Formats: sequence, structure tokens, C-alpha cells
Amino acid sequence: MAESDVRAEEEDDETVSILPGEGRATRPVPRGGSACTPARVACGCFALAAAVAAALAAATLLARLEPRRRPSAGSARNSTFDHGCGQRGRVGECPGYAECLREISGFDEIEYLASLRAARAGPPPLHPGRRWCTKSSCIDRATCAQPFRLFQYAHADVAHLPLGEHCLAESNLTDARARGLLTRDPARACAFWFELKRNCAHLHQLRELPHWRGNGLNHVFVQHDWRGIDAQTRERHFGRAMVAQGASLEDRFVPGLDIALGLHPKLLPSGERGAQLAALEPWRRRYLLTFKGTESHVSRIRASLHHDETRGVVLAYFPSGVHCAASTSLARPYAHDGRVALPLLHADCCARMLKLFRAYDYVQLMNSTFALVMRGDQPASFRLAEVLAHGCVPVFYGFDETVLPWAELIDWPALSLSVPFDVDFERALYPLLEALLRDRPRLLRMQREVRRAFAHFETLDARAGDLATVEVVRRRFSYVQ
Ligand SMILES: *[C@@H]1O[C@H](CO)[C@@H](O)[C@H](O)[C@H]1NC(C)=O
Ligand SMILES: *[C@@H]1O[C@H](CO)[C@@H](O)[C@H](O)[C@H]1NC(C)=O
Ligand SMILES: *[C@@H]1O[C@H](CO)[C@@H](O)[C@H](O)[C@H]1NC(C)=O
Repeated sequence: MAESDVRAEEEDDETVSILPGEGRATRPVPRGGSACTPARVACGCFALAAAVAAALAAATLLARLEPRRRPSAGSARNSTFDHGCGQRGRVGECPGYAECLREISGFDEIEYLASLRAARAGPPPLHPGRRWCTKSSCIDRATCAQPFRLFQYAHADVAHLPLGEHCLAESNLTDARARGLLTRDPARACAFWFELKRNCAHLHQLRELPHWRGNGLNHVFVQHDWRGIDAQTRERHFGRAMVAQGASLEDRFVPGLDIALGLHPKLLPSGERGAQLAALEPWRRRYLLTFKGTESHVSRIRASLHHDETRGVVLAYFPSGVHCAASTSLARPYAHDGRVALPLLHADCCARMLKLFRAYDYVQLMNSTFALVMRGDQPASFRLAEVLAHGCVPVFYGFDETVLPWAELIDWPALSLSVPFDVDFERALYPLLEALLRDRPRLLRMQREVRRAFAHFETLDARAGDLATVEVVRRRFSYVQ
């Protein structure tokens, strides 16, 4: 997914027609999203976390449900809201905006908050976490010679298996610090590094790897693709191996064993202006809090209702996959190149939402003290690294099920905020941010940590943080905490 896809799309999709058949055939935007941290890791208080985990899990379960995406034809209304209204106050209060959002995305904030409350009141989930393997049962230090050495699978090691040809990616552990840890002698190696291509159809052959030892002990599988490895696949094929991936949701993440990766940013500060912006102190920035993106996770939809330029808050959202062209049939939206067109009346609302969305430039919005980071349809977020790169303080919203990258190396609680799904934006979140804005020493400390965190995202060639991942593995075998 990507905000950068949004940008690309904006550049070549300037005309939006609400007339039948005139909308430009837009390629479907790839789905994607965010990588991050559970509240428990974020606050570091595990006991408290256990107590609230059940409630959270129930709530997040609900939040995962897709909002009703398609408006029903019968409820069609003539939504007219003034797209400039968010410059004069909270956009959710602009006449017609909430109705329009409901028509386009099926989202109703009051219903949503009520469902969160109901979920909290319900019984806790039956399986709060998977614990089939722990740090001590899945990492065997006895068989590895110290100091720590890493064996990297090469094509020659797996030439006899289709797995080698189709699934082993050329891994570029070229950084001198990583290279110094490599060995070609499996008897000396603590860990076995295998970088997986995406869409590998031969995972059942992992057990035939030459050093598999029956259960993948001490193996590290690195998957950089944001689509990731799901819970079922992880359990079925990876045995006791560590899985390092960007799509690290709690349902597939084995604490103490797996490693959440950050995704490499698609947008980096460019030129002198970019460098200036990255270094700009938090209180000298144009906006208080910003976001711009597509993808229809419920957190993004809700946040958009709280866009309010009078407070320096710009939260721009437009649902991906929605085509603003109108259908010739008022009764039934028609499919168009994988997108669904809207009945005529919705098309009016759609065009206004798009106009609001396009009023803001993604890069300009990086000139913000805080930046909202939310997941998309996928948990991994390119945006996280982008906001760190620009020196914004991340505010995680709707990230409760996602594990933040390299939590062993990055002190997330020191540099970010996490807010719950039902946060009151106007009465709780904005006052909190405004108070922080006055605490300059604290903000400077946060921004310094932001810079250090970002360094992990850019190490080693184009591969986000392979060096950080190697360091996490090394610590596990070297008894360093
Ligand atoms: C919808 O709004 C437009 C523009 O204000 C108007 O011309 C049209 O008649 C309205 N349609 C309905 C069904 O109210
Ligand atoms: C960021 O915003 C501040 C305050 O509006 C402005 O002075 C500064 O020039 C902006 N910087 C960039 C790089 O846009
Ligand atoms: C790995 O290195 C090769 C050769 O230098 C290069 O062509 C390739 O793009 C690199 N891949 C990544 C993901 O950095």
C-alpha cells in the first residue's frame, strides 16, 4: 500500500468525472499498510498489559472488521458538503461530511464507538496469544561456537531443491559489520539466514534444508515483502525457526523468537529543503498532526472525521478502490476495472471527498510536529519510516495488533505515542499534543530518538535494516539483553 501510490495516482489522475463512463480507468491501488507495536511493548509494563490484553484483543477484533464498503442504492442521498469547510473547524461537523463518508465507506462513528464498548464488555478471547515456542525452547546456544557467526544460505546450498531456485532471494548482507559475522562453516554457525522471496510455493521443502535439524532450530527466515507470512503458514512450515518480517501481527508473532522488521521508506527527504525539514525543531513546524493516505482500515476512516485545520490538524483520507464515476444505473453500482462505480448521487459526494483529499501535498504534510501512523489493509507501514526520516514524532493509532519493528533496539515508548481505537480526538488527543508542544526539552529528546530509530531503517543497501535484524539475532545468541 502506500501513500506513495497515492501520490503517483494523483499525478496522473487529475480529472474526475461524475458522468457515466468518463472516469479514467485507474489501476487498482495495491493493498498495504503498516508495521508496529502492541500497547504492552510500548508501555513496557507487562503485568498491566496482561490485564488489559483481553479487553484490547476483543476491541481490536472488532476493529479488524471491514466497514461496510458499498453504499446501498436505496440509501442514496444528495450529499453536499463544502470541501473547504475543514479549514474553519472539524470536518466531521461540516454539514453533509459524515453522511458522505458513510455513503462512500459505510462508516458511522457513533455505531463504531458503541461496538467497541460492547466488545470490551464481552468475554475475553479464548486464545489470547500463541506460545508454542519460547526464547529458551527455540534457540539452541549449546550447538554454536562463540563468538556469534551466521551462515547465509546460498544457491549452491539448495541447488537440488526447487525451493532454491524459486524461493531463495539474493540477500545482500554486504555491510562490513554483517560480513564480519558470516561463516561458510555450518559447524561454527549459531544461526542460519535464509532470505525468502515472496509468493514462495515450495515452503514444504524447508524441512529438506541441509541444516534444518528436523525443526528449523536456529534458522532465521527474512521476508521483506509487506504481504508477509500469515499465521497459518508460519505454524505449518517454519517449525522453530525465527521469522523476520514486516507484516508482523500478533497472531503470527512468537515473542522472543520472531523479529518485526521495518519497511524501507518510499519517500525520503530530498534536497536542501528536505534536509532542512528533517532537522527542523518540533515546535517550528507548520502542522500539529498530519496524515494522508488511502486504504480502508477503520482507524483511517475514523481519523478523517477529525481533520481540523484550525488546530493544525490535517487528516486526509480517500478510500482506495473507489471510482468517482457515476453509474448509469441508479439502482446498482457497476464494476469498472476492478473498482466499483457509484450511483449518481454518491458520485457528487465522492468528487467532493477527492477534492478535499487532493488539497494537501504529502510531502508538505511532513512539516508537522506529530504524524499519525495507522495500519492499512496490511499491518506493515511504509509511512512509519517516512515520518521518522522527516523528524516527525509518530502517533500510532489503530496499531494495537501490530508488533513494532526491532523493539529490542528501538525505544519506541521514548519516541512515540500510542492511542487507543476509541480515543477522543478533540478532548483527549489534541490537548495532549498541544501540551507536549509546549514541553520543548521533551520534544527534543523524542526527536533525537526518532533520528536514532530511523538509522535502523536505512542500514544496509536497499534492504531495510538487515543489519538491525542481524544485531537482534546476535544478541539472542550472545546472551546480551
Ligand atoms: C443534488 O444537488 C444538485 C446540486 O446542488 C442538484 O442540482 C440536484 O437537483 C440535487 N439532486 C437531488 C436528487 O436532490
Ligand atoms: C515548515 O513550516 C514552517 C512553519 O510554517 C516554515 O517556517 C518552514 O519554512 C517550513 N519548512 C519547509 C521545509 O517546508
Ligand atoms: C543486491 O545486490 C545486487 C548486486 O549488487 C543488486 O543488483 C540488487 O539490486 C541488490 N538487491 C537489493 C534488494 O538490494
